[in-house]
Amino acid sequence: MDMEAKETELQPSEDKKKTISVIGLGVVGLTTAVGFALKGHKVIGIDIDEEKVRQVNKRICPIYEPGLVKAIENVEITATTDHGAALKSDISFICGGTPSRSDGSIDLFYIDTPARQLAEVLKAKKDRHLVVVRSTIVPGTTEGVIVPLFRNSGEVAICANPEFLREGTAIEDFLAPDRIVIGENDRAAGDILCKLYDNGFKSPIYRTDIKTAEMIKYASNAFLATRVSFINEIGNICKELGIDVYKVARGMGYDKRIGSEYLSAGIGFGGFCLPKDIAALIAKSREIGHRARILEEVSNLNKKQPVRLLKLLKKHVPSLKNKTIGVLGLAFKPGTDDVRSSKAIEIIQALLDEGARVVAYDPRAIANFMRLFPSEIEFASPEKVLAADAILILTEWDEFNSLDYRSKIVIDGRMIAKAKEARIYEGICW
Ligand SMILES: NC(=O)c1ccc[n+]([C@@H]2O[C@H](COP(=O)([O-])OP(=O)(O)OC[C@H]3O[C@@H](n4cnc5c(N)ncnc54)[C@H](O)[C@@H]3O)[C@@H](O)[C@H]2O)c1
Repeated sequence: MDMEAKETELQPSEDKKKTISVIGLGVVGLTTAVGFALKGHKVIGIDIDEEKVRQVNKRICPIYEPGLVKAIENVEITATTDHGAALKSDISFICGGTPSRSDGSIDLFYIDTPARQLAEVLKAKKDRHLVVVRSTIVPGTTEGVIVPLFRNSGEVAICANPEFLREGTAIEDFLAPDRIVIGENDRAAGDILCKLYDNGFKSPIYRTDIKTAEMIKYASNAFLATRVSFINEIGNICKELGIDVYKVARGMGYDKRIGSEYLSAGIGFGGFCLPKDIAALIAKSREIGHRARILEEVSNLNKKQPVRLLKLLKKHVPSLKNKTIGVLGLAFKPGTDDVRSSKAIEIIQALLDEGARVVAYDPRAIANFMRLFPSEIEFASPEKVLAADAILILTEWDEFNSLDYRSKIVIDGRMIAKAKEARIYEGICW
């Protein structure tokens, strides 16, 4: 195994500029495309979604990502639905989604398909081409599934280069990641990718074998998920003992060995990454005969937190039938319009199942949420939501700190300090 960590300090130079194709223009692909374009590379974006391609060509960001919305206006990216365009590039990044199957295991359809399409295109390529798997895939997938697809595609080298961005600060994280992980099975392939990142990135580059790179991504997300479930567990205990878990987390965070990130107790983690990645790692472990007990418990705890919120609601509103419940926050976190695996989905479904009427507000995510609940809930202004019989806070948007909660019943899943002024206030873990 070949491993080394190095700091890069180099500035962009003409000879290092490449033509890059990015396949899959979702959160990760679009950020990768815009990020490398900002670094002066020529970028071709490829996606099967015609509307997305049209928007990118008009410099409109198809998702709400504050930094990306501005950055895309100032870069040159050509977007297309034609995978053949990858032929004009030196390096292709595969950025397809990796959702869960019903048993939690990883669904590789959106990786396998674009990889096959690229492999077909690269049969016509004369020069060396680097394929980079940017998506999160379980250890062994690049070598076991992706590499064989390119056997007849000429001189193709393959690397893994997992993305660690956080939604809400995607482009900032891309441009200044805590580390760049390069998984390589041949040194020359890794060198090409290293040179690409030498072009103006100042983050440490960590080079390793491909399987290890894939595992670094899973272990990192599993650890972050564990921190969230851990602090929720502590919070659940604190609630019973009359202790504010946010004060506890703050006190813990001063310890350099612990740090303060990912210690916000609440209704648990959602989003496209942590829930599915932890499920995929549990499933992969099961496949090799290992029971990942810590990860199973992290996941179980995360599933139970919304139930606690509903129990607290029922303490104050025992029957939800024909009651109007206001919901503040639908996105899985603030700073994004992404509602994938948002805790709001299961909580609202449970309210509806008990016969409640739901009126909801989110500053950015209403359009996406409406696709999931087209007619079952009412989307309204924060003022109308506050007029409900009781209010649940499910996302910690800043603007929820300037609403008037006096005379209301509020069950807070995210610690909005201003909501404590409510007539009846319950924090989920505090
Ligand atoms: N979203 C995040 O915050 C995040 C962060 C780090 C890593 N990741 C990982 O990165 C990967 C991508 O995540 P995402 O959130 O960007 O996914 P996404 O679903 O938002 O985007 C995938 C894109 O691929 C496109 N696509 C599907 N099939 C295609 C094909 N055959 N050819 C071309 N395009 C195709 C889709 O239309 C979509 O635009 C996942 O593995 C995810 O786990 C995500």
